[in-house]
Amino acid sequence: MYARIIGTGSYLPERVVHNADLAKIMDTSDEWIRERTGIERRHYAAEGQTTVDLAEQAARRAIAAAGLNPGDIDLIVFGTTTPDLVFPNAGAMLQARLGCTGGPAFSVEAACSSFIYALSVAEKFVRLGEAKRALVVGAETLTRITDFTDRTTAVLFADGAGAVVLAPSEEPGIISTHLHADGSYQHLLYCTGGISKGYEPGTGNRAVIRMAGRETFKVAVTMLGNSVEEALAKNKLAKSAVNWLVPHQANIRIIQAVAKKLDMPMERVILTVQEHGNTSAASVPLALDTGVRDGRIKQGDLVLLEAFGGGFTWGSALVRM
Ligand code: UT7
Repeated sequence: MYARIIGTGSYLPERVVHNADLAKIMDTSDEWIRERTGIERRHYAAEGQTTVDLAEQAARRAIAAAGLNPGDIDLIVFGTTTPDLVFPNAGAMLQARLGCTGGPAFSVEAACSSFIYALSVAEKFVRLGEAKRALVVGAETLTRITDFTDRTTAVLFADGAGAVVLAPSEEPGIISTHLHADGSYQHLLYCTGGISKGYEPGTGNRAVIRMAGRETFKVAVTMLGNSVEEALAKNKLAKSAVNWLVPHQANIRIIQAVAKKLDMPMERVILTVQEHGNTSAASVPLALDTGVRDGRIKQGDLVLLEAFGGGFTWGSALVRM
């Protein structure tokens, strides 16, 4: 038994912020942001619009694409770093919105890798027969933890949501997932505030993202390269077998480096970083839904998902659509 993706959906908040808009409020330029990251614009949630609000829209689209009703969902695994509240968990809040109460609903927190982690957890429930219609979400309002006085991170992060529905299938499906973490790198990418630890001095009692960009970049390229090779080796597949790479959208240069490792032309990479920026847990399901809805990713295609984020955490998933 396998778990198969039977529907995808995504949602971006209405407000679009261009590089030129950011250049008005900080010492940066459209040219620098495009050259160093590939980002051209991104979406920001409206005031009061929360992660669960974005997730609900993405979830409803994924459920509709699967030909189901919200009441059919019997498991929710919600990947996020920016939940609405400490508790109830974002999965439980989403479950109430969708009116599919009763089954398990929980969140998985692994920074930008949260969706890959959530997918890996949910597919096991489905594969083992413990869930029949699982909703897997990646959603963030990262602008709530963005420090707009720090140009090295403020130009990168954005808001959005993506979701997939999994169902049991005798054919693969999610072929394999590969999760990793190395907590000894936590100082290179972290958030300055938390409930138990409180706030870092000098942050004005705000929880904001801090990243050593250059160091993070190097580890990301190495670990993502290893992770995609691991997925192929585990399944004895040649690089050429993969139809589409759906990467975490942090930086176009990281994506190009991983694609090169796979001998994959950029035409076979789903690229959304230019329009979405880095939406952390939402970036992979947003890119997947983009590729599915514009007709590039077709049923039967072999798709390789990968992500890397704070922790550090990283991972990949090999999926037959
Ligand atoms: O999603 C989680 C995982 N995240 C990642 O994987 C992100 C990994 N890192 C990156 O994507 C890149 O390191 C960044 C985009 C964050 C930075 O790019 P970089 O090419 O590594 O730049 P840098 O940090 O080496 O900075 C180069 C220069 C510096 O100036 P000096 O010291 O050379 O004079 C920075 O001060 O660019 C300057 N700089 C900027 N200039 C204009 C940094 N940020 C900006 C900015 N606008 N926004």
